[in-house]
Amino acid sequence: MCGIFAYLNYLTPKKREEILELLVNGLKRLEYRGYDSAGVAVDSAEAKDISIIKKSGKVALLAEEIKNRSDELNMGVTVDVHCGIAHTRWATHGVPNEINSHPQRSDLQNSFVVVHNGIITNYKEVKVFLEKKGHHFESDTDTEIIAKLIYHFHQQHPNFSFRELVEHVVQQLEGAYALCFKSKYFPGECVATRRGSPLLVGIKTRTRLATDHVPILYGKDADSNPEHRPHGRGEFPTLPRTGSTSEFEPLEDKQVEYFFASDASAIIEHTNRVIYFEDDDVAAVKNGSLSIHRIRRAGDDPQKREITTLKMELQQIMKGNYDFFMQKEIFEQPESVINTMRGRLNFENGTVTLGGIKDYIPEIKRCRRLMLIGCGTSYHSAIATRQLLEELTELPVMVELASDFLDRTTPVFRDDVCFFISQSGETADTLMALRYCKLRGALIVGITNTVGSSICRESHCGVHINAGPEIGVASTKAYTSQFISLVMFALVMSEDRLSLRQRRQEIIDGLKNLQNQIRDVLKLDNKVKSLAEDLYKKKSLLIMGRGYNFATCLEGALKVKELTYMHSEGIMAGELKHGPLALVDETMPVMMIIMRDPVYTKCMNALQQVTAREGKPILICEENDKETISYSQKYLEIPRTVDCLQGILTVIPMQLLSFHIAVLKGCNVDCPRNLAKSVTVE
Ligand code: G6P
Repeated sequence: MCGIFAYLNYLTPKKREEILELLVNGLKRLEYRGYDSAGVAVDSAEAKDISIIKKSGKVALLAEEIKNRSDELNMGVTVDVHCGIAHTRWATHGVPNEINSHPQRSDLQNSFVVVHNGIITNYKEVKVFLEKKGHHFESDTDTEIIAKLIYHFHQQHPNFSFRELVEHVVQQLEGAYALCFKSKYFPGECVATRRGSPLLVGIKTRTRLATDHVPILYGKDADSNPEHRPHGRGEFPTLPRTGSTSEFEPLEDKQVEYFFASDASAIIEHTNRVIYFEDDDVAAVKNGSLSIHRIRRAGDDPQKREITTLKMELQQIMKGNYDFFMQKEIFEQPESVINTMRGRLNFENGTVTLGGIKDYIPEIKRCRRLMLIGCGTSYHSAIATRQLLEELTELPVMVELASDFLDRTTPVFRDDVCFFISQSGETADTLMALRYCKLRGALIVGITNTVGSSICRESHCGVHINAGPEIGVASTKAYTSQFISLVMFALVMSEDRLSLRQRRQEIIDGLKNLQNQIRDVLKLDNKVKSLAEDLYKKKSLLIMGRGYNFATCLEGALKVKELTYMHSEGIMAGELKHGPLALVDETMPVMMIIMRDPVYTKCMNALQQVTAREGKPILICEENDKETISYSQKYLEIPRTVDCLQGILTVIPMQLLSFHIAVLKGCNVDCPRNLAKSVTVE
C-alpha cells in the first residue's frame, strides 16, 4: 500500500520536465500499490524553495495537473543536481483528498517534505507534543507529524546533518514506515529509511561500479569517525581507480543517479543495480555519494549492503499486446508455471530439488506439524494444497489466515514448521505472524514471488515461486505458482517413501502436462466471455465445490468480489444443506465445480440438491463428461489432470470470468476500488 518513488540526479543534467516525467512514470509503475491520490515535490522554479503538486485520484490526473502548471514549473530549465520525491497513496488516515496526499510538509514554506508508506501508531502523542510547540496541522494523516517533527529538530539543532535529523525523527516513531525526505535546507540531498515497509535504491552510473556493496556505518557518530571519512570510504560510489597517477576518476565521472522506490518494478527501466534496505537503515545521498547508516545495531547484522543485479526485464512489467496487466498475467500462466518448476523438477528421473530449503528437509521431516499462513489469494493456495501435504507428509497441516492467527495468539512451538506464503513478501499481517513464530523458535519457510522482500529476508529458508512480476492487483499467476511450489515441497517430503512412489509419479506426470493443459483452458476465453455477458448484471454469484476444488471456489469468489464489486461466495458443497441451500432458486446465479475425483459422487449429490430447487448452475467439469454435462445448459469443459492438481486448471476459468465481468461492468481491472496489491499495514 502506497508507493514511494524518489529520483536524485547528481552532475547529470536533466530538464525539469524530464525530472517530473521520470517521477510520474515511477509512480505509474507503483500505482498498483495505491491509487487514491498522488503527489510530487521538486525544487521550485528558482530552486530556492520546494514546489509540491498533489492531486486526488489516479497518477494520470497528477500528470495532467503538472502539465497545466508547466509555465509556473519552468519545465525547460536544465538542472545538474536535483532531488524529487513522489508518492501514490492508498488512504489509511484521512480521506483521499489533496491535503491528505503526500508529500506532507513541515510548514507553509515547505521546509521539509516527506513521503511515507506504512502507519505511524503513536502519531497522536507526537501530534499533541508538536501542537504544544506551536505547529499547526493541516491534514488528517499520521505522516504529517513526521514532516513537522524533523522541522522541530532542525530548529533545535541547526547544525545537524540531514541524516542526523532523520535519525532523530525515526527514534520517535512507532509503527511501520518507509520514508523519503527532501528539504530546502539540504538542496540536492535525499534521506530515506525504513522499518517494516519495503524500500530499495537503484543506482545508475556512467562507468562500471568499482564496488559491489556499501559498507554499513553504525550509530549516530559514524559521520564524525575519521576512519569513515577519507575519500568517501563508507560511501557510494567509490570511484574507479585509474592506475598509479590518481586514485579516482576525474570529476565528470562522478555523474550518478539514484532511484528510491518501494519496489524494483519502478526502477528497472533505469538501472538493474539495486540495494534492498533493511529495517533501521538510514540512507543518505549527499554530494552524489550514498551512505547507509544503521540506527540500532542488531547482533547478527551484516557489515555491508550488497548491490544486487536485478534479473527482471522491462518487458515483464509492460502490458505488451494486452489491454490489462491482469489479462496478460492470466495468459502468462503456461510459462509462469514452467518457470516455477524450472531447475527443480527433473521429469526424466522424477526428482525434485528445492535448493532454498534442501538443507532443512531433515529438520522439517522431524517436525510436529506444518502451519501454512497467508492472506487473500496466498491463503487460498494453502487451502488448495493442504490435502496433498497431509497425504504426502503424513503430518498435521494447519492453514491459517495471518490476521486471525495473530488475533488468537496461537500456540507455536520449536518443533513447528511455519510456511509464510506471500506474493509480495511484504504483507504486514503475514510478516507479523512470521516474526511471532520466529520468536517462538519455529522454523520459518518463506514462499514468495519477490526476491529481496522482507519475508524472504526474515525466513530461515524458502522457495521463490519465480512467477515473474505480478502487477494486476488481483493475483492470478502467483496463485498457480504458489500452488505448484507447495506441491513440489510435498513431493520432496515424500521422495523416499516407497508406498507413495506411484502417487508421486502420477503427480510429476501431471505437472509435466500442465503447461499444455493450461493452454487448452485458456482457449475457453470466448466461451467464458459469453458466460460473463449473462452474469454481469446479476447481484450475486455462488461458487460451489469440495475436496481439491474447494480452494477454487474461494479464490474464484475472491476474484469476482475484487474485480467486479459483485457479491460472490465460495461455498463448500458439503455445507450446502447447512444454510447456503436457502439462497438457491431459479434466479440465483450458481457455478459448480464437479470433477471426476474422489468426491465426484458427493458433488453430484450437491448438484441434484441445487437443480431440485430450480437452480440452474453453470458447471465446470471434465472434458467429455456427458453425464455431468447433461444436468446443465451451460458448462465449461476442463482437461483432466491428477486430482490434486485439478485446482490449477479449474481456477483459470474463474480468473477469466471475473476479468470479463469487470470489463463489461466498466470496472478498473488492474486497480480495483479500495484495494492495493501490497498491504503493508495491519
Ligand atoms: C492483497 C491483494 C491480494 C493478495 C493479498 C495477499 O489483499 O490485493 O491480491 O492476495 O494482499 O498478498 P501477498 O502479497 O501476501 O500474497
